[in-house]
Amino acid sequence: TLADLRGLKAGTLRLSVVTTAKYFVPHLLGPFCERYPGIEVSFHVGNREQIIERLEAGLDDFYVFSHVPGGLSLESSAFLDNPLVAIAAEGHALSRQPALSLEDIAREPFLMRESGSGTRHAIEQYLQQQGQTLNVKMTVESNEAIRHSVMAGLGISILSAHTLNLGGWVGLSPLRVEGLPIVTQWHLVRPSRKRLSVVAGAFQQFMEEQGRAVLADFVEDAGRFVAASGAGI
Ligand code: PGA
Repeated sequence: TLADLRGLKAGTLRLSVVTTAKYFVPHLLGPFCERYPGIEVSFHVGNREQIIERLEAGLDDFYVFSHVPGGLSLESSAFLDNPLVAIAAEGHALSRQPALSLEDIAREPFLMRESGSGTRHAIEQYLQQQGQTLNVKMTVESNEAIRHSVMAGLGISILSAHTLNLGGWVGLSPLRVEGLPIVTQWHLVRPSRKRLSVVAGAFQQFMEEQGRAVLADFVEDAGRFVAASGAGI
């Protein structure tokens, strides 16, 4: 419409994402806000449990999760893969092994995200299915702190490849582990009953039309690192 072309769509887009999505969601907001300069964004970041609380309280227009929470009336659409990959300090002895089993890595000191984290939930669910338990040495409340702890030789971990994008892999080596990466999908989620504002509608349309294309280029760097573990992104 004419109003769009003049950048007249105005108001606030309220968006809450889990911590692992903060690495790429701003790269969607860049072109969106360029197209609609009148739109302001309120961008909230928390772990899965915290973002579910916001969803239950009806605080935002959209949420980004890798697994859509159950038991709520939601609309959701998948827009990107979320591969969880195993990492060690650069040059770690295990990184030179061409094929590790889950048992091999289960023995290593492991750095795990905090309870309430979706990443942790996905790792625990997968390990349980495979009948393995990890040797958790440290619980760490952020992806960045895990990357640095792994670099510092405190142990190995499994993180979303998105945390490693744009040079986030520096100081780290991928581990080639049978059955990994654990792949889930990123979903844009909204409560079915919440009224879609003009601004939220513009964002939904932008995501449908351009979301995948914008992100395909963006994840290339992490894709190369992950490919070194024999997996795709
Ligand atoms: P997290 O969420 O930041 O809570 O680990 C990531 C996810 O839900 O995959």
